[in-house]
Amino acid sequence: MSYFDHNATTPVDDRVLAAMLPFLTSFYGNPSSLYRQGRIVRSAIDTAREHVAALVDAPASQIIFTSGGTESNNLALAALAPQGKLAISAIEHPSITEPALRLKSLGAQLSIIDVDADGLVTPAAIDQLIKAKPDLVSIMLANNETGIIQNLAPVARQLSANGIRVHTDAVQALGKIPVSFKQLGVQLMSLSSHKLYGPKGCGALVFEKGVAITPLLLGGEQEQGLRAGTENVAAIVGFGKAAELAKTELAQRSAQLLALRKLLEEGLSTLPGLSIFAEQANRLPNTIQFGIPNIDGEMLLMKLDQKGVAVSSGSACASGGAAPSPVLTAMGVEAGLAKSAIRISLGLTNTEAEIFEFINLLKVLVCQA
Ligand SMILES: Cc1ncc(COP(=O)(O)O)c(C=O)c1O
Repeated sequence: MSYFDHNATTPVDDRVLAAMLPFLTSFYGNPSSLYRQGRIVRSAIDTAREHVAALVDAPASQIIFTSGGTESNNLALAALAPQGKLAISAIEHPSITEPALRLKSLGAQLSIIDVDADGLVTPAAIDQLIKAKPDLVSIMLANNETGIIQNLAPVARQLSANGIRVHTDAVQALGKIPVSFKQLGVQLMSLSSHKLYGPKGCGALVFEKGVAITPLLLGGEQEQGLRAGTENVAAIVGFGKAAELAKTELAQRSAQLLALRKLLEEGLSTLPGLSIFAEQANRLPNTIQFGIPNIDGEMLLMKLDQKGVAVSSGSACASGGAAPSPVLTAMGVEAGLAKSAIRISLGLTNTEAEIFEFINLLKVLVCQA
């Protein structure tokens, strides 16, 4: 089987699993317990927090663990006052768009920030934002479908200088490109463990000191009282290990993925009519989304699946829906071409041989279609 869907999720690294296992067997104490078992477990959580902090260049005291990117995104938006003003980019993940729509239904003002044909927030949209002065702006760092990377630091600095709080969903960027909370200049940032060879069900929210956070879960003092509930210790330890490994291996991982991506792009360029979305934009080293005129993306996905190849037709969370991807629609991609979209997201175990096989298979399937 060729697994080309690493933006949906990644396998747990063996070294991550090894780090986690003792916390499911021997060290099962509750980190809030005051006796030795509890203290050992507490210290493992602290170490994990240090590793995540080092990966994102932020103080450990400004990181709280959550159940994943979805919860972190919901938590980031939860502090908005009932009549507050929120602006989100047009290409956000549903874990931003849906809570944003909920807030709107409860009385908040919601505006959508336009993107250009590459999926990048436009300077004109930023000027408009500065005039409208929302309380909170959410712009993702890297898009899960196209892989485009926003040039976020100058935008965030401009907005922050105008008193506008900025959140970024860095779930897809983490572990693939350098992510520095300090250099980005945002006030809130969401992370997820299972996109970087850590376990599912674990993530984090990074926050600037003094930024108001309204807990979604109440009933305990865990995570500075901002996220109640006994910690998912093994998963947190796994996330920490995944972060530690990503930090030391980041440059080599990115280079390896980019080399495979280039090979894949060369192969794709030989298919008549195929276009790679945002091809010339700065994209994640592992991600390619393409469309082929008159091809049904979902159908192609199923045919590839029958041949043992796992790809996505867009965002994993959106697959199954008949509507074209809102991300591609926001970029002005015509509906027919958007519906043909296939996303390949490469990972560390993919090989050149798999890429060559995939291109050959794709040529056969497209001819048959
Ligand atoms: C950009 C982005 N944000 C948030 C999430 C949600 O993260 P999690 O699966 O950890 O809840 C995803 C998952 O696909 C994502 O791609």
